[in-house]
Amino acid sequence: MENNITLETVQHKAAVCDLCELYKGRIKPVFARGNPNSSVMICGMCPGPDENNQGSPFVGTAGQVLNELLVKVFGGTESVYITNLVKCFVKPGISLQQHWMSRCLPYFIVQVSLIKPKVIILLGKDVCNYFLGVNEEMGKLRGKTFKYLSTNVVCTYHPSYLARGGGKQHKHFNTVLKDFTTAYQLSAN
Ligand code: URA
Repeated sequence: MENNITLETVQHKAAVCDLCELYKGRIKPVFARGNPNSSVMICGMCPGPDENNQGSPFVGTAGQVLNELLVKVFGGTESVYITNLVKCFVKPGISLQQHWMSRCLPYFIVQVSLIKPKVIILLGKDVCNYFLGVNEEMGKLRGKTFKYLSTNVVCTYHPSYLARGGGKQHKHFNTVLKDFTTAYQLSAN
């Protein structure tokens, strides 16, 4: 990608990307929402049907649970920068393929290099495994911290997993709150 790239230019590139077959299912491009000046970046997996229709990440039921967590830990839903590793729609229930994530990775890397967050929260098994280069269950991965592009990363459960089990009532809602709090602390250092 050329020098002097901005979030707008990378967003436009992602919006017309055809580097893998997922572009065929794209209705509205889904790039990011929230605060590009935040020290916290949240990375989900991929847009679902609601996001594909509305053109913004985490606007469906998983987004409602994410918003509850954000209000509790970060004081609001727009105070962090929210994106997905895979920018195009994937049918719910399908695991992310390696080549989808690898094709989209350069967009994510540019986002990280421009936002310069102090911490990145990775949501869900597929993205956590991808960045760690392992194949583990979330029970083993959650709470793990590591560095990516010199940035602190925290792994946790995906909000859609919480949403499927009652949202706030889910036995792991507080686990995710704890992981978000770890991220908050890392962002404040
Ligand atoms: N799940 C994700 O991983 N991302 C979204 O934007 C919505 C649901």
